[in-house]
Amino acid sequence: MANLKFKHNDENVDLPDDSPIAQPCEEAGVPFACTEGVCGTCVINIISGGENLSPPTREEEDFLGEGCKDERLACQCRIKGGCVKISF
Ligand code: FES
Repeated sequence: MANLKFKHNDENVDLPDDSPIAQPCEEAGVPFACTEGVCGTCVINIISGGENLSPPTREEEDFLGEGCKDERLACQCRIKGGCVKISF
């Protein structure tokens, strides 16, 4: 079981391992547009636990730079397990 925490309201949500985080992020208020990693609308800041996210996709590296860690695109990430804390 994985856990996604939101800094702005201290809420968190449990997710099965290897889940996309787009839906819980959208429910928490992260704005989305293209959902394909192109527009950059869904940028989130990784506060902690970034190693528990799937590796950056090519779309993320194109938009955020190679090896992006502190920022990710919520429409592209999956949570592998453990805890990840984000802000937006
Ligand atoms: S919604 Fe466009 S990059 Fe995520």
